[in-house]
Amino acid sequence: MKIIVCKDSKEGGLKAAEILRDVINEKNDAVLGLATGSTPIDMYKSLIKMYENKELTFKDVKSVNLDEYVGLSGEHDQSYRYFMNDNLFNHVDINKGNTYVPNGLADDYDAEVKEYEERIDRLGGQDVQILGVGVNGHIGFNEPAEKLELYTHVEDLTQSTIDANSRNFASVDDVPKQAISMGLRSIFKAKKIVLMAFGENKADAIASLEYSKVSTLVPVSLLKLHDDVTVIVDEAAASKLSK
Ligand code: F6R
Repeated sequence: MKIIVCKDSKEGGLKAAEILRDVINEKNDAVLGLATGSTPIDMYKSLIKMYENKELTFKDVKSVNLDEYVGLSGEHDQSYRYFMNDNLFNHVDINKGNTYVPNGLADDYDAEVKEYEERIDRLGGQDVQILGVGVNGHIGFNEPAEKLELYTHVEDLTQSTIDANSRNFASVDDVPKQAISMGLRSIFKAKKIVLMAFGENKADAIASLEYSKVSTLVPVSLLKLHDDVTVIVDEAAASKLSK
């Protein structure tokens, strides 16, 4: 596991974007596993700049997103489909037909999660997966628990996640209580993983990456079982790592 400590999310986002750019330039039809939330926003800004500077093209790129809120349509401005369109897809030459985000309004969620997992397999897995981390250590929406789901599934969000995400909604009551999320095994299908974390409230989750044990109660700690993980953090998120 490689840990890169950056000045701030801008520098960290640029580093992550450089990794994605290199993956795409090596393989034009790369499959990107993408994340939403505040953490990757600067990375998407850097990618758009790189596209504008003709450092890369998304023409043949495919993407699979980690998660989507249950009950929100892709037109809802807090849906993760909307986020992806708004923060990346609308600004680059990606074919939106090659971008996949779980359907938050599926008629049949069992069928939706099965189809989504099969989609990841049909694409050959992610060449690189971008991850953020929750204050409670969740990755995707795999919340701390005694047992974690392996594959794409519907997850009940914890109160801590609902509270953290309420900043984007009119009130906490408007935050969906469930999300469709890739499972741990779906995430581990990625050949390469890039985890980003910025801010002091992520320091405990990041410190768990140094322990000699893993725990499903801190899902991010399981990343130690993957062979190719790069962690990009700012100084605040790195503050509880040993110096
Ligand atoms: C988003 C996702 C979540 C976020 C996490 C951190 O697609 O899967 O795990 O990465 O909740 O969110 P932010 O970046 O808003 O702090």
